[in-house]
Amino acid sequence: MHFFGYRGKNFYAEGVSVGKIAREAGTPVYIYSDRTLKRHYHAFSAAFAKVPHLICYSVKANSNVSVLGAFAGEGSGFDIVSGGELFRALKAGADPKKIVFSGVGKREDEIEYALRSRILMFNVESPQELRAIDRIAGRLKKRAGFAIRVNPDVDPKTHPYISTGLKKNKFGIEAAEAVKEYIYAKKSLKNVDAIGIDCHIGSQITQLEPFVDALKKTRELFLTLRGQGLDIKYLDMGGGLGITYDQEAPPHPSRYGEAVIEGTKGLGVTLIFEPGRSMVGNAGILVARVLYTKEGTQKNFVIVDAAMNDLARPSLYGSYHAVKAVKDAYKGAEVTADVVGPICESGDFLAKDRIIPRVKPGDYIAVMSAGAYGFSMSSNYNTRPRAAEVMVKGREYSVIRERETLKDLIRNERFVKGKAARKKKRA
Ligand code: LLP
Repeated sequence: MHFFGYRGKNFYAEGVSVGKIAREAGTPVYIYSDRTLKRHYHAFSAAFAKVPHLICYSVKANSNVSVLGAFAGEGSGFDIVSGGELFRALKAGADPKKIVFSGVGKREDEIEYALRSRILMFNVESPQELRAIDRIAGRLKKRAGFAIRVNPDVDPKTHPYISTGLKKNKFGIEAAEAVKEYIYAKKSLKNVDAIGIDCHIGSQITQLEPFVDALKKTRELFLTLRGQGLDIKYLDMGGGLGITYDQEAPPHPSRYGEAVIEGTKGLGVTLIFEPGRSMVGNAGILVARVLYTKEGTQKNFVIVDAAMNDLARPSLYGSYHAVKAVKDAYKGAEVTADVVGPICESGDFLAKDRIIPRVKPGDYIAVMSAGAYGFSMSSNYNTRPRAAEVMVKGREYSVIRERETLKDLIRNERFVKGKAARKKKRA
């Protein structure tokens, strides 16, 4: 459920006309709805109201500090995967005691930053990483809470690039090896405390079954560890709950909640979740302006000013994002077209063979469900300044990230003058 929709012929984000934002802030522009973000957070949280739980919003999905701030204000914690994400979360007012640090390749400086910031725990993905954390914590005279990310070998039935819980994936440690690591850490590593078990199997999961299967395996591991005298306080179930982009019908958080509560009955743990997409995906749109339309013998193209550098998902995963006209002024006239950007690659498209209103140059389109993995995966490819981001709250909106300028694009570059420039100077 989100707060984007038509009022008469005009498309609105909450109480603000999208056309007005596009005219004033320019395009391409990402527009987020504050009310939708909060609604999603509370829908998730309500699903676990009966049990101790902590929601750690997964920063990678959308890391704008205002988005993080909106969640922090509601009591959310954060799942981070880099020092950069930790920096953003702290800037947004996050409580470090509600931060978990995931990812297979944590660097020494990042581990040190997290320890100094006193985060809740590290989700450890390899035996070597666990030893590194112990060593660094010892040097800093700090204690590190950790969970081992177990790889449950469950198929999440999603796109292969975003499946993470299969043995062939680079993530996590197999359960039998994880047990050995927990016991080894208890006996021999002096600066780490085993406080959790972590499991994340993938993203855009639209069925309950893979979650339930992973939970069964996590439960078994929990009971084994308890048998070994380990006091595990947290069960981190990761993220992964899918959203509707097109026809998908993912379980509502309340059904997911019932299944997880049932599967963890009697364990006496605090549940942690790391939702990303389900929090922000449908809380954001990408608005672009039509530059040209081109009708060919085989295909029609609508060329817009947003491209794969702004929203990589269609090119990268073949993902579907609905496309809407910002002003419904076409009297039902439609065209089947590829909606493409200006990037010099045939893989640069936002929609393929799509029936859309017969838009004209100068019109605006809204690419829906772009709040997750949209701006956060954007780049400067083809030396395109990154888009502006806007937050709508009721009848007002604010620019929460300025559009990059041409100067921004070369800010960190150093011009080592070549022969031609040196000669010119001498002359
Ligand atoms: N926790 C961990 C350890 C993760 O790796 C991820 C996502 C999440 C939580 C959040 O998952 P979510 O609730 O958003 O499904 N770029 C891809 C998605 C990559 C997901 C990576 N990990 C896309 O655009 O579909």
